[in-house]
Amino acid sequence: MYAFSVNGKPVQFEGEDKKLLRFLRENLNLTGTKDGCSEGACGTCTVLVDGVKMKACAILLSRLAGKSVTTVEGLSKREQEVYSYCFAEAGAVQCGYCTPGMIISAKSLLDKNPDPSLEDVKKAIKGNICRCTGYKKIEEAILMAAVYFRENLSVPDQQEEPRLDMRFQRVDAKFKALGKGMYTVDIRIDGLLHAKAVRSAHPRARVLSIDASEAEKHPDFVRVLTSADVPHNIIGHIKQDWPVFIPVGEITRYTGDAICLVVGRDPETLEKLTSLVQVSYEVLPPVLTMQEALKDDAPHLHAGGNVLSAEHIKRGNVDEAIRKSKHVITRTYTTPYTEHAFMEPECAVALPEGENGVLVHTSGQSIYDEQHEISLMLQLPPEKVHCHSMLVGGGFGGKEDMSVQHHAALAAWILKQPVKVKLSRQESLTVHPKRHPMEMKLTTACDEQGRITAMRAIIDANTGAYASLGGPV
Ligand code: FES
Ligand code: FES
Repeated sequence: MYAFSVNGKPVQFEGEDKKLLRFLRENLNLTGTKDGCSEGACGTCTVLVDGVKMKACAILLSRLAGKSVTTVEGLSKREQEVYSYCFAEAGAVQCGYCTPGMIISAKSLLDKNPDPSLEDVKKAIKGNICRCTGYKKIEEAILMAAVYFRENLSVPDQQEEPRLDMRFQRVDAKFKALGKGMYTVDIRIDGLLHAKAVRSAHPRARVLSIDASEAEKHPDFVRVLTSADVPHNIIGHIKQDWPVFIPVGEITRYTGDAICLVVGRDPETLEKLTSLVQVSYEVLPPVLTMQEALKDDAPHLHAGGNVLSAEHIKRGNVDEAIRKSKHVITRTYTTPYTEHAFMEPECAVALPEGENGVLVHTSGQSIYDEQHEISLMLQLPPEKVHCHSMLVGGGFGGKEDMSVQHHAALAAWILKQPVKVKLSRQESLTVHPKRHPMEMKLTTACDEQGRITAMRAIIDANTGAYASLGGPV
């Protein structure tokens, strides 16, 4: 048994040792402590243990005997008022997923040092990543809070109704700051099942067989879903080219491809369940670069070939303008893949709704596209599919594709039970398409005064294994 206190109240837990983050969120329903990575890297789960800030995803309950844990829900009324006001006033809250952890780090500083320098503040939040605000406003918010505490200032009353001609706080800033914002991952439903995809072990391989017989023996196993369970096994916002699951006999295109979905009763044993599914492959040489993909003898990843789209835009007579220019320079520039790194990994919770319908709570960026694709996938009329956007913990364009929504919807629709699908940070990095790396050969011409007279640009963009938003980008 583990006994300690959380926010001043004694708690006990009997059972297998687990991470404090899981205990806070799942056993105590204290969802203000956020889960951005579960790996001690992001700081969204920051709590105080005996006044010292720590990452709740990195502490086991067995280390907490007799200790006192403080989460964002355990702030005093005065602290709640000051921190939420200052963060809102400074514009330090956008998606808000990092903010409760930031505030706990701020508290750990201000409790010991009421008059910190900017450098002190920077040091205090070094372990907290924010992908939205750029830190400056967060630092301002913490310095502002220090003044409010030091000088015992009253927090101004509620602002008047915001108008476009006045400066006002974000309407959702305060409750997000205090950990009261509901993101998809925070949803709790009785009887909720949990699902996780088995991903391809190889970037390019033919799936020869899927054997879930060992997983089926596990007490937490509920069901495995494969392409055979999907009414229409292809999705894609703009181009329908992305299999929900790679069927036996077909070829994978990247390691994010889902082979099947394992549904279980306990999120803690999902990893084990997926590891018990045996998939055999015929491994094939992958196509890793644009140059390889463009070769005449490159294997075609899609029936139409490896080029998604080609655009040719011409204005004026470029050749002649270049020929007549005083100076001409040709250079090749490249940009890398860019990971969006939103703080909240992808999550969807789906429930059966009405007669044969489905309701999907989602952290995605485009619910109408999701509704369209799920209705196509399930071969249901759109009015049978409802997609509900929860707070989105950052997206930056990386949550526009289907990642978990379709899997959750499929499982809930088939099993007639609520199902959550949440990606781990590693899965998130593997699965969602990235900002396209580009190779740009630019020829720029100018006259004697340096005025640009012509430009020729040949740009190749790598959209990855699937079209995603590659065409419009
Ligand atoms: S550091 Fe704990 S969830 Fe990221
Ligand atoms: S506000 Fe910090 S990650 Fe979004």
